[in-house]
Amino acid sequence: MSELKIRRRTFLKLGGGSIAATAASALVPKVATAANPVDTSRTKLPYPRKPVTQVGRMALNTPVSFIYPYTASPCTALKLGSRVPGGVGPDGDIVAYSAMCTHMGCPVAYEPTTKVFKCPCHFSMFDAEKAGQMIAGQATENLHRVRLHYDEKTGTMSAVGMEGLIYGRQANVL
Ligand code: FES
Repeated sequence: MSELKIRRRTFLKLGGGSIAATAASALVPKVATAANPVDTSRTKLPYPRKPVTQVGRMALNTPVSFIYPYTASPCTALKLGSRVPGGVGPDGDIVAYSAMCTHMGCPVAYEPTTKVFKCPCHFSMFDAEKAGQMIAGQATENLHRVRLHYDEKTGTMSAVGMEGLIYGRQANVL
């Protein structure tokens, strides 16, 4: 009887350990390796760095369209002509925003005369000179800013991140 107990206990120990090991390995998140550089256990995945344009090519107050971080995320960069909050580049006047309205995701259009982004769907307006601040309309959030990096050596402006969650997304980086 006691021999049977020991065997059963030993069996359970081994079996239990094996089950625990299997369960643990299933729960352990994937960590970054040379083959897979993205550590999916992080709560926030890293944003890609994507060149937007050469600063020397930007015309004053003229929108430059680009996509960031992925194809379904249109964005607009602007050289406003005077230093603004969050502005980058040699004159601190370059900003970029998601071109998707924060209300329901309609594409916003830039109006150079007022330096305002306007949404044609429900008429929200966002100030390009004030970090995308919402001026009026149905939206309850400011227009999402794209974080930019200016490389002095090459004159390249790159998108390196995003502030706020793009409309309809659970995460900006998928
Ligand atoms: S989608 Fe822009 S105001 Fe509604």
